[in-house]
Amino acid sequence: MKAILCADENWAIGYKNKVLISIPSDLRFFRETTTDHVVVMGRKTFDSIGRRPLDNRTNIVLTRNPDFSAPGVVVVHGKEELIRELKKYDSDDIYVIGGSAIYRLLLPYCDTVYVTMVDYAYQADTWFTNLDLMPEWELTEESEEQTCFDITFTFRTYRRRYHASLPE
Ligand SMILES: NC(=O)c1ccc[n+]([C@@H]2O[C@H](COP(=O)([O-])OP(=O)(O)OC[C@H]3O[C@@H](n4cnc5c(N)ncnc54)[C@H](OP(=O)(O)O)[C@@H]3O)[C@@H](O)[C@H]2O)c1
Repeated sequence: MKAILCADENWAIGYKNKVLISIPSDLRFFRETTTDHVVVMGRKTFDSIGRRPLDNRTNIVLTRNPDFSAPGVVVVHGKEELIRELKKYDSDDIYVIGGSAIYRLLLPYCDTVYVTMVDYAYQADTWFTNLDLMPEWELTEESEEQTCFDITFTFRTYRRRYHASLPE
């Protein structure tokens, strides 16, 4: 299982239920990486993308609300139900796409994290775990510096040093 996100230099990922920045090449990377796979997101992130499933992907949305429903998405109501659902898929096919609550819940089961890391500190209220401070995570690849107008960023890949899998 993999997580994919865009973070600023402090690992901030959101403010007021929106992303901090939209970079076209990052959106393209996200689309190309996740298309034809399974994406897992929290209800707030689902709201933030317009309450519509992402095209050509199996969309799984996590909520505690038993009445929640939305066309074209698989709804699960807790961690155990989510794990049961995720076991239906090859774990290499599963992408955790946020937000922070869902990243926190599933990071222990991820073995790869794709981070588009922007070289700037935005105003924020939501963060990802700082993987540079976690001994089990290793920065294994980093692109050349990219630019988009006055924004600079890199595409990073972090890999877990030890294998992670879903609990029995
Ligand atoms: N930069 C990026 O790459 C990126 C990517 C995605 C999101 N974001 C940002 O992240 C922020 C949203 O993150 P967030 O942490 O506030 O929200 P979130 O993770 O998107 O969704 C949280 C919601 O998920 C449900 N949930 C969480 N844990 C659950 C559990 N154990 N069982 C059942 N349901 C559970 C609850 O829904 P109910 O309230 O319905 O019960 C909870 O309110 C936004 O600012 C968004 O733009 C950034």
